[in-house]
Amino acid sequence: MSIIIKSSDDILPSEITDQKVFEGRREFIKKIGFGSAALLTGGHISLSHAKTAAGKYSDLPKSAFSAADKLTDFSDVSGYNNFYEFGTSKYDPAQKAKSFNSDPWSVAIEGEVEKPGVFNLEDFIKPYALEERIYRFRCVEGWSMVIPWVGFPLADMIKQFKPTSKAKYVEFVTLYDTKRMPGQVLKVLPWPYTEGLRIDEAMNPLTLMAVGLYGNDLPNQNGAPIRLVVPWKYGFKSIKSIVKIRFTEHQPLSTWNKIGPKEYGFYSNVNPQVDHPRWSQKTERKIGEPFWAPKHDTQIFNGYAEQVAHLYAGMDLKKNF
Ligand code: MTE
Repeated sequence: MSIIIKSSDDILPSEITDQKVFEGRREFIKKIGFGSAALLTGGHISLSHAKTAAGKYSDLPKSAFSAADKLTDFSDVSGYNNFYEFGTSKYDPAQKAKSFNSDPWSVAIEGEVEKPGVFNLEDFIKPYALEERIYRFRCVEGWSMVIPWVGFPLADMIKQFKPTSKAKYVEFVTLYDTKRMPGQVLKVLPWPYTEGLRIDEAMNPLTLMAVGLYGNDLPNQNGAPIRLVVPWKYGFKSIKSIVKIRFTEHQPLSTWNKIGPKEYGFYSNVNPQVDHPRWSQKTERKIGEPFWAPKHDTQIFNGYAEQVAHLYAGMDLKKNF
């Protein structure tokens, strides 16, 4: 995600160079060693996946909503991140979130619900059955990944707190703590990071509260200890390190919408027909493929139209971008 106050029209050249070097190095490593194993297995097994198969959540049921796509390597999922609370470069979060302590953690439920409260994380997630869900993940910057998340449907949690008839939207808020999240010292975004969904989007069975990936707890850089994953929307809607969930009558303002309303709408559904002013959304580059590989066509709703298109029936998606 590029900051709107930047004067450049595109991703920073330094970021592009970094990525090429990064991918070139990965390709090299693949060719000299691991590549042959990947070839034999059709490329579906990675070293990291093999390692995490014995992880804390290795025996979870796999969700029927899982994509059959080839997984992005764990090293890319946990090494190429957007998490501005830990810096604005893609490589900052893995480094700068290393010592982030997310234990103990509490989540507050507020607003239009019959049963508000503040819960410690263990109590908060205890009632829900965890599962593995392999989702396509598309960033508005034009890259994508395929990630095996560990989590539970947000709908299960919402039902527990009994929203009132006034609850039309759900707002999510990230931790604000400049000592633990050093990137928050810089005013690159209005902190804390916030996001929002319409209540029917939040209740859709695809919307996931994630507490892990690749069979283990969430790495800090991916939003430990609990984050949202909304696979048919651009990645920035999938807010990390959540401390508050508020049910509201009116549409909440999200961080990116606040700082760039012409660039980042409330809905932010993946849509190849609606370009971002600075990035075409027609195609995408899969992280892990060599930078010279042909790009892939982006699919409406990121390929999840069957499950979510009805939510937007009759809406002009160019206006409601
Ligand atoms: N959540 C918070 N709190 N802060 C952030 O900077 N970045 C968003 C989203 N959630 C962000 C966030 C963006 S732009 C993207 S693309 C995804 O997280 C990246 O998730 P990943 O690093 O797990 O791939």
